[in-house]
Amino acid sequence: MAAIAFFSLLLLLSSTPPVLGFTRSDFPPEFVFGAATSAYQYEGAVAEDGRSPSIWDTFTQAGKMSDKSTGDVAADGYHKYKDDVKLMVDTNLEAYRFSISWSRLIPNGRGAVNPKGLEYYNNLINELVQHGIQVHVMLSHLDFPQVLDDEYAGWLSPKIVEDFTAFADVCFREFGDRVSYWTTIDEPNVSALGSYDNALFAPGRCSDPFGITNCTVGNSTVEPYIAAHNMILAHAATTRLYREKYRDAQKGGVGINVYSSWSYPMTNSDVDIEAAKRYLDFVFGWILEPLVSGDYPDVMKKNVGSRLPSFTKSQSQVVKGAVDFIGINHYYSMYVNDRPLDKGTRDYSADMSLYQRASKTTPGSSKNIPSSSQSDPEGLQYVLQYLTKAYGNIPIYVQENGVASNDTLYDTERIEYLKSYMGGTLKAVRNGANVKGYFVWSFLDVFEFFAGPRSRYGLYRVDFNDDARPRQAKLSARWYSGFLKNDDIYFLNELDSTGSHALQ
Ligand SMILES: *[C@@H]1O[C@H](CO)[C@@H](O)[C@H](O)[C@H]1NC(C)=O
Ligand SMILES: *[C@@H]1O[C@H](CO)[C@@H](O)[C@H](O)[C@H]1NC(C)=O
Ligand SMILES: *[C@@H]1O[C@H](CO)[C@@H](O)[C@H](O)[C@H]1NC(C)=O
Ligand SMILES: *[C@@H]1O[C@H](CO)[C@@H](O)[C@H](O)[C@H]1NC(C)=O
Repeated sequence: MAAIAFFSLLLLLSSTPPVLGFTRSDFPPEFVFGAATSAYQYEGAVAEDGRSPSIWDTFTQAGKMSDKSTGDVAADGYHKYKDDVKLMVDTNLEAYRFSISWSRLIPNGRGAVNPKGLEYYNNLINELVQHGIQVHVMLSHLDFPQVLDDEYAGWLSPKIVEDFTAFADVCFREFGDRVSYWTTIDEPNVSALGSYDNALFAPGRCSDPFGITNCTVGNSTVEPYIAAHNMILAHAATTRLYREKYRDAQKGGVGINVYSSWSYPMTNSDVDIEAAKRYLDFVFGWILEPLVSGDYPDVMKKNVGSRLPSFTKSQSQVVKGAVDFIGINHYYSMYVNDRPLDKGTRDYSADMSLYQRASKTTPGSSKNIPSSSQSDPEGLQYVLQYLTKAYGNIPIYVQENGVASNDTLYDTERIEYLKSYMGGTLKAVRNGANVKGYFVWSFLDVFEFFAGPRSRYGLYRVDFNDDARPRQAKLSARWYSGFLKNDDIYFLNELDSTGSHALQ
């Protein structure tokens, strides 16, 4: 099957150049194209050189992934980053986004910096800078030190605001001479809900009946809102710190990331159109509205009531305006329709008061996360246009976009997906959306939070059965490389000359 798919791609390419309908140079020159990974999913070496456990070590080592996998070795990036930067050069990557393991850099959560952790990130950053690859850093990508979870339940305590800001301070001080793009927190909605509502993610707290498991500790109806509140406060304090202490010298900026889907109303009825808007307020507004206007969206205050924390006057002032750019992770669109607000106990999903489905024909669910999705590049276009308009023209980076595939090197479906979503991004740019960059998730196959290493998003294949974790270029890596070289001809020749180039 794979050979046939590959053969038909060759035919397609050789009979119909130009391939894409747009090229790299159709995007503004300052727009960057990159790819991303994150610390726990990429590095491995979880017990090496002074790193202390993160909540994900505890969670996976307790056998809580459905396939019992762990990120103990992951893609072994801690040992292989130099070779990986070479692959990035081969891919003509303009930018790379990775995250810093807080428990590697500051093993006690606060206080002493681990010299080996510092050295690793300095080496990685230097390697990137030497090769002219722009560095984008995520400070917290769903993981944080287990010691802080033990001490005060992590994001559930306001104490995290001070510790997070101190961690960020170390990063700005040590790396800020070479790093200008800082994102504080990855997908606050996913971590607030995954960690404290449905228990899909570490540390796996929930209360019945909202968890995927029998809940023993947690409170799904309030904890996600408290966690997100503290994330917003931590983000804002960090942004203020950067502006006061570092911005003049380092000339960078601080953003936050939101997991994003576009929402289409299932029907043209007023209530469904209203539901689609409500969805956007719950997803984007939850995180972004406070940072732009200093408070949560009205519809959230109304539906969540006293379970939604409120900002004090002084908090509101710190939070308002504390964002230099928005990062979005985007994979699919949602169809929603209205659902009356439950009278009984509600969690976030129930507070949204709508049914969501991944396509018009799948059955509606009041629960989140569809298990399958269909490609909808217009959804990304709409998200980018919407964010530009709704939140005052703040620069936006697509920090993750991609699709999972099985373990094949002939990943023509990935090429089609990326191509179409890059096209959606270009349309948004042409319509005036303030988009500054696009990152493929993921640069290589990593440990995936939803499914362990079985689910593959990489441009490069990683063999997780081999201790050496060898990498191989997939067809999509070749394709991206050719696109970034702005050279369709190069791409065609590469494929024509060997036919199996992607296999090397
Ligand atoms: C992977 O998926 C492709 C397309 O869906 C299919 O043609 C191929 O046989 C699959 N390969 C493996 C190894 O399962
Ligand atoms: C939850 O508890 C019930 C009864 O104690 C048990 O039958 C079930 O297997 C448990 N489910 C999970 C996911 O642990
Ligand atoms: C969750 O917290 C709310 C508000 O404090 C409380 O009313 C409710 O009983 C708690 N639920 C659980 C399961 O502890
Ligand atoms: C976070 O928001 C997205 C929409 O952009 C939604 O699809 C997803 O279900 C939310 N996350 C979780 C874990 O529910």
